Amino acid sequence: MCGIVGYVGERNAAPILLDGLQKLEYRGYDSAGIAVAEGGKFTVVKRKGRVKGLSAARSLAGKTGVGHTRWATHGAPSERNAHPHLFGGICVVHNGIVENAAALKAVCEARGETFSSETDSEVIAHLVAAEQGDLLHAVRAAAEKLVGSYAIAVLSESAPDTIVCARKASPLVVGYGEDGLFVASDIPAIAAAGRRVYTLADGEFAVLKKGTAPAFYDASLRSVEKREIAYDAEEDIPEKRGFRHFMKKEIAEVPEAVARSIPDLSKGDFSELYEVLCQTEYLHIVACGTAYHSGLCMKHAVQKFARLPAEAFIASEYRYSDPIVPKNTLAVAVSQSGETADTLAAAALAKERGARVLAVTNVPYSSLERMSDFVLPTRAGREIAVAATKSFNAQLAALYALAGALAESRGKSAPPLAGIQPLVREAAAAGERVRSWMPYFVGAKSVFFLGRGADYVAACEGSLKLKEISYLPSEGYPAGELKHGTLALVDGRTPVVAVVTDPALADKTMNAVHEVYARGAAVFLITNVSACLSCAEITASVLLPKCEPAYSPMLSSLPLQLLAYYVAIARGNDPDKPRNLAKSVTVE
Ligand code: G6P
Repeated sequence: MCGIVGYVGERNAAPILLDGLQKLEYRGYDSAGIAVAEGGKFTVVKRKGRVKGLSAARSLAGKTGVGHTRWATHGAPSERNAHPHLFGGICVVHNGIVENAAALKAVCEARGETFSSETDSEVIAHLVAAEQGDLLHAVRAAAEKLVGSYAIAVLSESAPDTIVCARKASPLVVGYGEDGLFVASDIPAIAAAGRRVYTLADGEFAVLKKGTAPAFYDASLRSVEKREIAYDAEEDIPEKRGFRHFMKKEIAEVPEAVARSIPDLSKGDFSELYEVLCQTEYLHIVACGTAYHSGLCMKHAVQKFARLPAEAFIASEYRYSDPIVPKNTLAVAVSQSGETADTLAAAALAKERGARVLAVTNVPYSSLERMSDFVLPTRAGREIAVAATKSFNAQLAALYALAGALAESRGKSAPPLAGIQPLVREAAAAGERVRSWMPYFVGAKSVFFLGRGADYVAACEGSLKLKEISYLPSEGYPAGELKHGTLALVDGRTPVVAVVTDPALADKTMNAVHEVYARGAAVFLITNVSACLSCAEITASVLLPKCEPAYSPMLSSLPLQLLAYYVAIARGNDPDKPRNLAKSVTVE
C-alpha cells in the first residue's frame, strides 16, 4: 500500500528517493512520483506505472525531497493522481485513506480552491497551506481534521531543508546518519550501515531539519525522546540471487524459513507466554489473505492436538462482527508484515474486550508487534514478491509449534515438528513436476482446488495463489460440498486439483475426483497416499512425502505455490508484482 520516502541533507535527493522507492515498490506500483526542492521551488516528476519510469528524474538538483509509490484508493492510477501533491507552496506525500476527504474538500472549494487530482490525499496539502504558523504546527492542525489513516511527509516552500512527518495507523520510520535525515514507510528503504533508525508511533510527529538530529513530538507537540531500533542493514538488501523472480527464490527458501521459524517454546523467554497458554480457554485467530489460511491450519491442529475451541477469523470481518470474546481468550494475530490495517484493528478489538494478544509476524518493530502482549516471530527473512510463499510456511511452523505447546499445557501431545525440514525439501523438489501441467492450465476457463480438512485449507491457499498471479478465476472448495452447487461449473475447460494427504479422508475426496472426471474435467492430484495414484482418472500427480495430516499444508503448499508461479509466467504475467495488488495493505 503506498510507499513514502523522504530525504534532507547534503546529498542530491533524487537518486536517494528513487533508490528508496525501488525498495518500497512492493507496497504499490500503479504510479510513482518525486518532488525535490531547490531554491525554495519544487520540481515534480510523476509517472503512471512502475518506479523505473521516473529514471529521468535522477539528475534533478535539490537536496530536500519526497517520493511516493502509489496503490490507488481514490482515483484511477494516473500521472495526475500520483503523489506528491502540491498546493499553495505545500508538497505532500500520503499513505492511508482520508475518510472525510469529500467533506474537507468541499470546505476548501468553498474558499475558492481548486483541486488537480481525484485523490483523497491532495486535500492534506490544502489543509496545511491554509494554516498559519510554522510547518510543524500547520501539519498538526491539518492532521487534527483528518479522519482515517495517514502517514505523511510534508515540505513547504517557506521552510527549506525541512520535512515534517506525521503518522496515524500507517507506518513511518525515520533514519539519521552522517549523510542526512531520511523518512520512509519501511526500514529497507533507508537502511544503511551506521544509520540510526526510529519508528514513529500513532499520533506522533517528526521534524527532519538539515544539520540537526530528528526531533519527535507527541500529539500535543510535547517533545518525545526516542530510542533507536536495532536492525540488520545487510539483511535488508533484497536480491534475486540468480533467480528470475523473487517469488521463485522465496519458494526455494521455504525449507530454511520453516526450520528457522520453529520456536523452542520451552525456552525461558516464552515462560510467561506458556503460563497464558495454560490459562487459555478459547483461541481467536485473526488474519488476512494467506495469513488467514495459516490461521485456519492452526485451528485444525489446535482442535486435533489440544482439544481447545479455536476459531480463525478474517480480520476485516472480525472487527465489525461485534465478536464475543470470552474470559481467557488468547487472540493470535498472524501477519507477515505486521502492518495490515484490518489485522491490527481486529487484534486491538480483541484486546479491548479482554483477550491477551499474541502476534505472529515476520517484521520486528512492526505495529502489530508493538501493540501485542506476546510475540512469536517468524523468521522467513524479507519477502519481496507480493504473493506470500515462504512466510506462509514459516507461519505454519510457528503456529503448529504453538498448537503443540497448547496441547502440552493440557497434558496432551502433538507430533514433533523437528524432522519436517527434509520433508519440506522433498516436497519442493517433487513439486517441480507441476511444470508439465501447463498445457491444461494456461488457457483454462477456471480452476478448482479440492480437499477435506487441512487439505481443504491447502486447496484454498493454492487457489488464492493462482488467482493472485495468474488472474485465472479459481476456487478452493471442500470436496464434499462440490455437489451442492459448484459442480455445475465443471466442464472440460475446468482443470481440478485435488489435495489428498489424510489417509482417513482419501476415499472421500477421491469420490469428488470421480464426480468431476465424469463431467469432463482433467484431474491433477497432490497426494502422499500412494494408493490414490492408481486411479486411472488422474491426468498427472505430485507424490509428497508422508507426514502428520494436520501438518501437511506445510508440504502440499509447495507444489501449489509452484503451480501458480509457472501458470503466471506461462500467461505472460509478472509473478512478483501482480496487477491491482500490494504486499502490505495498510488501509482498511
Ligand atoms: C496482502 C498480500 C497477501 C497477504 C495479505 C496479508 O493481501 O498480497 O499476500 O497474505 O496482504 O498480509 P500480512 O502482511 O498481514 O500477512
